[in-house]
Parts: sequence; structure tokens; C-alpha cells
Amino acid sequence: MGVDDLDQVLAIERVSFPHPWSRQAFLYELRENRVARLWVARATDEPAAPVVGYLCLWFIADEVHVTNFAVHPAYRRRGIGRQLMGTLLELCRQEGATRAALEVRPNNHEARRLYEAFGFRQVGLRKGYYFDTGEDAVLMEARLGPEGSRPSDDAPVRSRGAAGNPRPG
Ligand SMILES: CC(C)(COP(=O)(O)OP(=O)(O)OC[C@H]1O[C@@H](n2cnc3c(N)ncnc32)[C@H](O)[C@@H]1OP(=O)(O)O)[C@@H](O)C(=O)NCCC(=O)NCCS
Repeated sequence: MGVDDLDQVLAIERVSFPHPWSRQAFLYELRENRVARLWVARATDEPAAPVVGYLCLWFIADEVHVTNFAVHPAYRRRGIGRQLMGTLLELCRQEGATRAALEVRPNNHEARRLYEAFGFRQVGLRKGYYFDTGEDAVLMEARLGPEGSRPSDDAPVRSRGAAGNPRPG
């Protein structure tokens, strides 16, 4: 993600979350926050192709914390979210990350299913994390094993049975 992508990123952000990150929040992550990494997915390989999704994270010591993640509504359910998550967890794993964490709203079943496919499991609740509704956040963690980050075969997704910054969820 670059500053030039922000108009498109913000358009996706605003239709994806009740309390979207501001331009300033993205700019802070892009320019100031030295542990932040932000990526976009584009519709094609062309550098100027439209942004269809993004994933933001903090990489601290050996831990990744996913801070923001969304796909344009018109492009959902095509595997873009899975590709973003898989690619970025694998990149971080190759750079030494051994675990990943994130918060998600309890009723965000689509995202939770995706996360479970990457080995994320609920490890706790953050009480009253979402100030808009007072909901608790589900805290999920995954170990990034030596075999790499990819959807596991036994996860529900396969069996078809998954800001103040950060504001995942
Ligand atoms: C969560 C999100 C990023 C997923 O992006 P996506 O590109 O649609 O996801 P994918 O197409 O890669 O889906 C991967 C898997 O996630 C699950 N999933 C995704 N959307 C789903 C839905 N609407 N219903 C049920 N499961 C869903 C499925 O298991 C899916 O695999 P399948 O299509 O083979 O069944 C997208 O729905 C989104 O932007 N949501 C709004 C923002 C948000 O909630 N972000 C997460 C914050 S924690």
C-alpha cells in the first residue's frame, strides 16, 4: 500500500466497517509506525490496477498482529482474502514470525471461518473492546509452523462445515 492507494483503500474501508479508519490512521501506519506493514491486493498484475483489498499488520519480534483486513464487497468470496492472508502470513513466517494474533467481532462469522482455516483459534475475549456496541472482541491466535501458512485441511473452511489502531474485527 502506498499513499496513492489511499482513496481506494478508504472507499473499501468505509463500506466494510461501521467505524472506519481515517486517512490519518492509514497515513500514520504508512509513514510513522515502524512495526506496521500494509499491503493491497489489485484486480490484476498491472501496477495501476484497482485496489480490491488490503491487509495491515504489526510485526513485533516474532509476533504478527493483524490490525486491518478487508476486501471490496464486489470482489468478496473469490479467494482474495484467503490469498492476502496466506501470502502475508507466509512472508512474515519466512522473516521469523512464529505466531499471529488478531481480534474479531463475535458475529463476524465469515472472517472467523477464514481465520480458522489458517489455524487461528480463540484464546480469549477482550472485554468491551468495541466501543460502538460494547461487544467483547474474540482474541484469536495461530502458530506459524515450519510447514508454512496455508489453510489447513481439517479446518472448517475446507470441510465447508471461516480504530484507534488496531481495529480488526
Ligand atoms: C472477511 C473478508 C476480508 C473475507 O474476504 P474474501 O475475499 O471475501 O474471502 P475469501 O473469498 O478468500 O473467503 C475465504 C473463506 O472465508 C469464508 N468466508 C468468506 N466470506 C464468507 C461469507 N460471506 N460467508 C461464509 N463464509 C465466508 C469461507 O470459508 C471462504 O471460503 P470458501 O469461499 O471456499 O467457502 C471480507 O468478507 C470482508 O472484507 N469483510 C468485511 C470486513 C471484515 O470483516 N474484515 C475482517 C475484520 S476481523
